Amino acid sequence: SHRKCCSCLTGSPGRVLSTYKTSDVQNTTALLLSPDAATLFVGVKNAVLSLDVNCILQYDWTPKHGFRCQTSEKNCANFVRILQFINSTHLYACGNKFSYLLMSWCNFHSSAKGVCPYKGSERNTAVFVGEDGELYTTTTEDYFGSTPVISRHFSKGRNNLNLDTTFKKLSDPTFISSSYIPSEGKVLFFFREEAAEYSYTERFFVSRVAQVCTDDNGGERVLQKSWTTFAKSQLICQTEKQLPFNLLQDIVMMPPADDELPDNTRFYGIFTSQWSTHRSSPTAVCAFTLGSIKAAFSGAYKTYTAETYQREQPNPNSKLGKCGIHNDTDSTLNLVKKTFLTATSVKSEGNKQLLITNEVLYSRITAQTVQAASGHIYTVLYLLTETGLLHKVVLQNNGFHIIEEIQVFKQPQTVKSILLSVTKGVVFVGSSEGVIRVPVSNCSFYSSCAECVLARDPFCGWDLLGKACIPVSDMKPDLSSALVRSKYARPDLLSVVSVQLYRLVMLPCYSSSRQAKVSWRFPNHSTLPQSLYLQHEDGSLIFFVTPSTALEYFCVTEEQGFQQTAAISLKLQTSSRSQTSSSCSGLEPIPVPDLYEDTIMHQKIYYNELVAVSSLLAICLFVIAVGALLWWRKSHNTDPADPECLPAHDVGLSLHLK
Ligand SMILES: *[C@@H]1O[C@H](CO)[C@@H](O)[C@H](O)[C@H]1NC(C)=O
Ligand SMILES: *[C@@H]1O[C@H](CO)[C@@H](O)[C@H](O)[C@H]1NC(C)=O
Ligand SMILES: *[C@@H]1O[C@H](CO)[C@@H](O)[C@H](O)[C@H]1NC(C)=O
Ligand SMILES: *[C@@H]1O[C@H](CO)[C@@H](O)[C@H](O)[C@H]1NC(C)=O
Ligand SMILES: *[C@@H]1O[C@H](CO)[C@@H](O)[C@H](O)[C@H]1NC(C)=O
Repeated sequence: SHRKCCSCLTGSPGRVLSTYKTSDVQNTTALLLSPDAATLFVGVKNAVLSLDVNCILQYDWTPKHGFRCQTSEKNCANFVRILQFINSTHLYACGNKFSYLLMSWCNFHSSAKGVCPYKGSERNTAVFVGEDGELYTTTTEDYFGSTPVISRHFSKGRNNLNLDTTFKKLSDPTFISSSYIPSEGKVLFFFREEAAEYSYTERFFVSRVAQVCTDDNGGERVLQKSWTTFAKSQLICQTEKQLPFNLLQDIVMMPPADDELPDNTRFYGIFTSQWSTHRSSPTAVCAFTLGSIKAAFSGAYKTYTAETYQREQPNPNSKLGKCGIHNDTDSTLNLVKKTFLTATSVKSEGNKQLLITNEVLYSRITAQTVQAASGHIYTVLYLLTETGLLHKVVLQNNGFHIIEEIQVFKQPQTVKSILLSVTKGVVFVGSSEGVIRVPVSNCSFYSSCAECVLARDPFCGWDLLGKACIPVSDMKPDLSSALVRSKYARPDLLSVVSVQLYRLVMLPCYSSSRQAKVSWRFPNHSTLPQSLYLQHEDGSLIFFVTPSTALEYFCVTEEQGFQQTAAISLKLQTSSRSQTSSSCSGLEPIPVPDLYEDTIMHQKIYYNELVAVSSLLAICLFVIAVGALLWWRKSHNTDPADPECLPAHDVGLSLHLK
């Protein structure tokens, strides 16, 4: 069946978003993009759909596979929770009700306990590893969702593995995400759970990273068919004197840059606090490096005794947390069995939060790096709020900057998934009502060079020849000429503005945010004298152009530690010659509001008049004084040789008269 299902909606100014949606297709949950980024697979209620990514305005949904319940329950609906590629030909779809599909774009039905979850509301994770497609899952094993498991399935020629249950390895966990790390031969699992290591009266939760090794095969006598490499550690996204941000909400892996080591693989996670209130619900984002996770797993451990962890356990021969110990001695494996919590926690990179806010609750994250026109590489985070806003955030050395806020949903929505296609430049957002396609940027929204550059969107750059704001990916290297490069260097933007002498001028200072603090400076960074310059409430600079004020000015905008400088150079207009603009132009002086014309112009004129009047007055007084002195001398006939008789300030005058 082919149906049109795509409609458009205006998310925010300059943002037209397309929605894939039909009345009978609801509860879109899992999203998966084909390796060529051309097809998006969407898990919905009772079906897996595939859709053409390139379609923008209209699309035919083609449900390829019915995916009905395998149980005899009445009104049973199967919500697809997990979609993964097994290999180049097969896809794995996992519903609740313990059922899953393996399909070479189809036709394989099965059901398996422990592979798929039962409860529809849970978050579960799955990752396929290796050529043969071994499946590593985190889910719950029983109908009540009370036995959490981390397990391996579809192993050929070796054991499927599960968690040993002698000691309570997990405590009411909520699984968030899992990642295969080829350089380590490990799979990492991210989740939050109740903390058994702290004895508070209140239930206290912590966020965790856990590991297993892919070479694990379970022990021979001890830990048979169970992980011998399972270990877990606490993730800390918190600075001193803060309520703990103890609840991991979502986390995404970012591979290292080409010139970086695998240890620089980063995990960006969203954290909230279990003590959030209606009035204060802070969210923080932290980054964790693979290096720091490795360090925690190769350090000391705590041993599980009775109901809690008490004794610290040194790590003999660094065997704990190490791969390849499944055929070690029974005594080692007996130690492993009860020693799986690291003594040290994994702290966020730089011991800090990349972002912290009290205003919104973030629920989903995805990330990428992008090379700006300047050549600088930026990390961009896409953060989805619980109220349906998508924040595009650029990370800086000294902070973060929200460069765009896009309204994805008119009404608050329960968002189930977010997926980024770097090749297509699109973020897909799956809600219960459909899938929304959000391009990573819309450079054409910025109409002038100044807007283009000051938007600080690393995806956009100013095309000098075409005089348009275009995606950096469309810029030919030779096209990004010296100026496009230099404007990102210090100062970030150089603009030339043509002005006329003896006119009032108002220079704009664009800032994408109302919160930004604007200040104007001379190029030597000293502030402007208030007697000659006036700053409008929108940040613009107003002053009278004279030969001595026709200079270069720096407009400095600062927000949350992010500082940007735009240099504006005044060029005196010679009436005959037309403007030759090889520079990043588009910055025009803006019309000065009447209010200022009235006040400043008149101030200026009065000032000049005042100077003239004062001078005249001074001359008059001088003449009067001289006349008076002459008259006084004449009438008193004092000794001219006695200058001491004269008041001190008249000395010069009297000498002059001689
Ligand atoms: C990008 O912005 C331009 C100018 O505002 C607008 O006409 C266009 O529809 C926008 N495109 C998208 C895909 O949002
Ligand atoms: C499925 O979608 C409908 C309508 O959008 C919503 O009311 C319902 O709660 C969703 N069910 C689940 C299990 O997400
Ligand atoms: C992909 O995996 C499926 C299911 O395990 C298997 O039947 C198929 O042969 C595999 N294909 C390739 C090319 O390995
Ligand atoms: C342990 O197993 C590995 C392969 O998994 C094997 O290479 C090694 O020889 C084994 N060691 C012992 C002591 O059996
Ligand atoms: C900075 O430059 C301005 C304008 O050129 C000048 O008037 C001022 O004296 C300079 N200040 C310092 C501290 O050099």
